[in-house]
Amino acid sequence: MKKVTKMAALMLAMAMMTTALTACGGDEKGSSTATDTTVTNSQTQDSTPADAEPTESATQEAAPEADNTLTFGTNAEFPPFEFVTGNGVIDQYDGIDIAIAKQIAEKNNMTPAIENMEFASLLVALQNGQIDAAIAGMTVTDERKEEADFSIPYYTATQVMIVREDSDITSAADLADKKICVIEGYTGEICVKDMGYPYEAFKKGTDAIMELVNGKCDVVVLDSATSQKYISDNEGLKIVEDPSAFESEEYAIAVKKGNTELLDKINTAIDAMLTDGTIAELGAQYTEGLSAE
Ligand code: ARG
Repeated sequence: MKKVTKMAALMLAMAMMTTALTACGGDEKGSSTATDTTVTNSQTQDSTPADAEPTESATQEAAPEADNTLTFGTNAEFPPFEFVTGNGVIDQYDGIDIAIAKQIAEKNNMTPAIENMEFASLLVALQNGQIDAAIAGMTVTDERKEEADFSIPYYTATQVMIVREDSDITSAADLADKKICVIEGYTGEICVKDMGYPYEAFKKGTDAIMELVNGKCDVVVLDSATSQKYISDNEGLKIVEDPSAFESEEYAIAVKKGNTELLDKINTAIDAMLTDGTIAELGAQYTEGLSAE
């Protein structure tokens, strides 16, 4: 039996869970996801969904909406969710998030566009109207909720520890005297900071992984699916999990605070894609062939 299949089933099950947990706090929010209140969307394949409301789009929205383009900001340094490739699903961008973004736009009769930027710039770009939405494997946290509104979650992840194969790290407690690497501004950094350990923060996941491969650090704390990708791309690395230290995180799409019109459209689309299995399929498709360890 293929790990991928198991993983896809697990991902779907997790995506359907109704509790939203924050990164490391273990602070339950009990937000109910829309998978409970199943929206019976039409099965029509390429026609406009019944709720597209084409006449309503020319309101006081920012410029990108007015020209019928739905501009998503991302940071394409986070495979399998977003990465740059020769022939992506939107321009040179590909990944689970990019495929989701494309479908959200298409379900609303809009043209999808991607703006690639630093992860830390995404919420500011929303605020100043440079982008309409941010899709970036972004974990919902209380802090971020102060700056943006989030869609229903579409993916559940957790932080894991990437170590060299000969590492003696078996749990988060073993991080105490290790050289820890994280990626700047990611929830992994927040987790390690909360644990009170010193660490070094890198701009990109690949930079932190190189540091680990070259023996300059002992462990990289990073999101689960992206970690799988990195260990399958680099010899001699493995993943160590510690669910008691790293709790579930939920990825969601961010919009500018108060932009309920767009948020509703996004939620309807995500709900339909969770219900009909599209998101689980995309997850399986983009993680196919990734080894578990
Ligand atoms: N899930 C983590 C967070 O929200 C990492 C996301 C990184 N995403 C990216 N596209 N670079 O902080």
